Amino acid sequence: MIDARLEEEFNEQINKELYSEYLYLAMKAYFQELNLQGFVNWFDVQVQEEHAHAMGMYDYLNERGGKVDLRAIDKPVVEGKTIIEIFEQVLRHEEFVTSRINHLADVADEVKDRAALHLLDWYIKEQVEEEASVGGVLATLRLIGEDKNALLQLDKDLAARTFVAPVIG
Ligand code: FEO
Repeated sequence: MIDARLEEEFNEQINKELYSEYLYLAMKAYFQELNLQGFVNWFDVQVQEEHAHAMGMYDYLNERGGKVDLRAIDKPVVEGKTIIEIFEQVLRHEEFVTSRINHLADVADEVKDRAALHLLDWYIKEQVEEEASVGGVLATLRLIGEDKNALLQLDKDLAARTFVAPVIG
């Protein structure tokens, strides 16, 4: 049986992952308006990944005899007005998620739940990849500046990203 405090933290994090899915869905719509289909694809993969992250915790709570408690998902707020600003927001958001996952690992540590720590190790590694992936796009965008041809080339590159269902845990 999972510790009640850890159960609460997992439920809160399921909500944060579903919010991430929702936020990236809103960003996908922004790029659909610009008709940048590679960026649309990149955010579509992001949406699917966030759903998988939420479900990994959902399944884990069920496996451990915990109770899944779904909460209201906030309206997503796309703060950025430019492509670079949007990716800066994505990076800030992923850094926030990383801090949340680290907090979950701290709680799992406090209640000595080794199985949860093992699961959270996967999420910790995933956050390293997420931040690196977003940081990579952001660095390219900064190089591109106002060069429209280079932006279209990046759009082509981002079209190649594919979703691979993760094996979590
Ligand atoms: Fe589920 Fe992008 O962290």
